[in-house]
Amino acid sequence: MIDRTDGKARRAAPLIDAFGRRISYLRLSVTDRCDLRCAYCMSERPAFLPKSDILTLEELEAVARAFIARGVRKIRLTGGEPLARRNVMSLIEGLSQYLLDGALDELTLTTNGTQLEKYAGALADAGVRRLNVSLDTLDRAKFAAIARRDALDRVLAGIDAAQAAGLKIKINTVALKDRNLDEIPALIEWAHQRRMDLTLIEVMPLGEVEEDRQDQFAPLSEVRRSLEARWTLVADDFRTGGPAHYVTVRETGGRIGFITPLTANFCDGCNRVRVTCSGELYMCLGQQRRVDLKSALRDGGEDAVSRALDEAMARKPLGHDFKAANPAAGAVPRFMAATGG
Ligand code: 5AD
Ligand code: SF4
Repeated sequence: MIDRTDGKARRAAPLIDAFGRRISYLRLSVTDRCDLRCAYCMSERPAFLPKSDILTLEELEAVARAFIARGVRKIRLTGGEPLARRNVMSLIEGLSQYLLDGALDELTLTTNGTQLEKYAGALADAGVRRLNVSLDTLDRAKFAAIARRDALDRVLAGIDAAQAAGLKIKINTVALKDRNLDEIPALIEWAHQRRMDLTLIEVMPLGEVEEDRQDQFAPLSEVRRSLEARWTLVADDFRTGGPAHYVTVRETGGRIGFITPLTANFCDGCNRVRVTCSGELYMCLGQQRRVDLKSALRDGGEDAVSRALDEAMARKPLGHDFKAANPAAGAVPRFMAATGG
């Protein structure tokens, strides 16, 4: 991998952790803010980070560049809602240069879709090929209850716009007890008819919210059994180095992914790390250990970030443990919107 930050081309070592796992995938949160307030994700009045704590767009690009120089080939921008960050397209357009020169294989986003109508064309022009869109229901009233905002129509219009712009979409659906379990087959049918795969996610205990986590949690093993009663699910070898297991539905030809962080272990092949919008590098979603890249960058520039990455690699844990991370609360005291989904 070529590092151009000092003007000279120089080979930099790939990121390999203490367990021999090669880190090739960065999830970079660009904001902790969001225009929705999903009840499992945020409180109605979240305490967002002060602006001075949040990396500027230039700093986010510098962090991404440090990872690219160390062999990261795929970057996913997350949030909060990444498209809620002002001028986010300048970051995306900056990163798209690395797609053009072959340093990066993929640049993608996880979005709630509310602003896709506005951004789909620009994203496609910047070389984004795929998006993950979060959608937990197709019922307007249920959407307004789950997300605490009446925004379903905008999300659906956003998905239309993204498909029209040629972007491939995967739907992410959080399985919510008493909220959307009965609708999951209809959601899958809708997605597959539109040639979109759909991944089901178990609620993770990330951050304190108003509702009781126990009242939200639905085990995907049960959801899967009910889907098996309806369709033929053919186990799929397709893996992304991530936590999802995939099946293909014989009747629809589409894929369903299952992300079961609390009931299944998927850490052995982990190829990813996360950076928050305030520049904290988390080696694992379910762990508290972190490395402060913001201080490294602000005090020592991109070389200091690269050295901090070496320190981080030595500390990436073998597996996650949501309970050990904060035994008292039984939850990781950090919101998904801060770490990035
Ligand atoms: N548990 C599971 N999924 C969550 N998301 C946000 N908070 C949680 C949580 N506590 C999901 C969103 C989106 C993705 C980015 O993360 O719905 O699909
Ligand atoms: Fe926003 Fe996603 Fe959190 Fe919902 S789950 S509030 S869309 S960041």
